[in-house]
Amino acid sequence: MAQGKGLKKILLSEEEIRRRVAELGAQITKDYRALVGQASWEKQLARPLLVVGLLRGVVIFLADLVRTIDVPLRYDFMTVSSYGNADSPGELLLLKDLVDPIQGQDILIVEDIVDTGQTLSYVQRTLKARKPRSLRTCCLIDKTPRREVEVQLDYVGFRLEENEFLVGYGLDYAGLYRNLPYIAALETR
Ligand code: IMP
Ligand code: MG
Repeated sequence: MAQGKGLKKILLSEEEIRRRVAELGAQITKDYRALVGQASWEKQLARPLLVVGLLRGVVIFLADLVRTIDVPLRYDFMTVSSYGNADSPGELLLLKDLVDPIQGQDILIVEDIVDTGQTLSYVQRTLKARKPRSLRTCCLIDKTPRREVEVQLDYVGFRLEENEFLVGYGLDYAGLYRNLPYIAALETR
């Protein structure tokens, strides 16, 4: 395994990820075409999807996903960071916001991995308050054991019932491992 030091096992191979991302893209394409109706391409162009990626982990997934979605779309990014300490654990800070207003638009939030759900819950609340026409969420990995808040997940790539720490395909440990083409569990010691 390249960069194999510290990696326990590969959980999702490049090929598995590629196949699942294509399935998600096909489903999203179908759903958003239905949402806009059997409109002409011109009508669809007048109502493009806005894909909102949560930096930085989502970069690789989003790049692959949008290329499997066949409706007119734009994308933009947000950065949300937890700066929790002993007094206020899990406090979230919006470090980078979207460039344009989103009122009246169809929004698809894209996240790499959902753990406690706090990050996504915060983003969903923040964007909902801006009155989009529709708001859906796609995550590559739904890691369930530590969930603290219920979040609506409309498209899920993979569900992980074990509490593993994952790296690769954009997921990091201390900023590292994002460039692995597969997803692996990190050795915990
Ligand atoms: P949540 O707010 O607890 O749901 O955390 C979500 C964020 O924590 C994700 O966007 C990731 O940045 C990070 N995260 C959670 N689990 C993992 C993991 O297994 N590997 C890498 N990052 C993770
Ligand atoms: Mg993240």
